[in-house]
Amino acid sequence: MKKASIQLHDKEFEVFLSRQDIEARIAACCQELRRDFEAKKPLFIAILNGSFLLAAEVIKNWGHADCEIEFVKLKSYSGTSSTGKVLSVLGLEGMRLENRHIVIIEDIIDTGRTLGRFLPQLQEKKPASISIFSLLLKPEALEENIEARYLGFSVENKFLVGWGLDYNGLGRNLLDIYQLKA
Ligand code: IMP
Ligand code: MG
Repeated sequence: MKKASIQLHDKEFEVFLSRQDIEARIAACCQELRRDFEAKKPLFIAILNGSFLLAAEVIKNWGHADCEIEFVKLKSYSGTSSTGKVLSVLGLEGMRLENRHIVIIEDIIDTGRTLGRFLPQLQEKKPASISIFSLLLKPEALEENIEARYLGFSVENKFLVGWGLDYNGLGRNLLDIYQLKA
């Protein structure tokens, strides 16, 4: 059930993108993704925690062609602004990426610093290609040269929750996306 506005901790949020619009847009991106990678047995690398719902939605839209999925955890965020530090990369050790077509699944690209630090670590493992699938991108906040080949929505520079995105731990379960009320 969609609510027009919600409270998480001390802040109020109002509905911004509906579940229907989000799912339709992801399905459209997934058509392109399939067309590009169906024959290439891609390895999806989903970035935890935020991308778990998007990862499931991409897999549900993928169909029967071969694919694999792995998860890594990179943490660079606390509160409502990016700290700019990638605190940890868990799960990459031991992953064999040589000659694989990698599709990174990310909830949102904000400053781009998280991916800016993660991509070189992936490159070292000599994959055949690296593409990015992001549900959201904030072009005004972007500081790094990062391009999402598959992008759900380009959005204003406002703090969002829902669809895996949290405000200090809350809101990941919301299936519509909400923005911080001005
Ligand atoms: P970046 O390194 O600044 O691009 O930030 C990337 C990470 O910050 C994302 O994967 C999110 O986990 C988090 N983040 C960025 N913007 C938001 C937001 O509006 N709401 C919740 N989390 C966000
Ligand atoms: Mg994230």
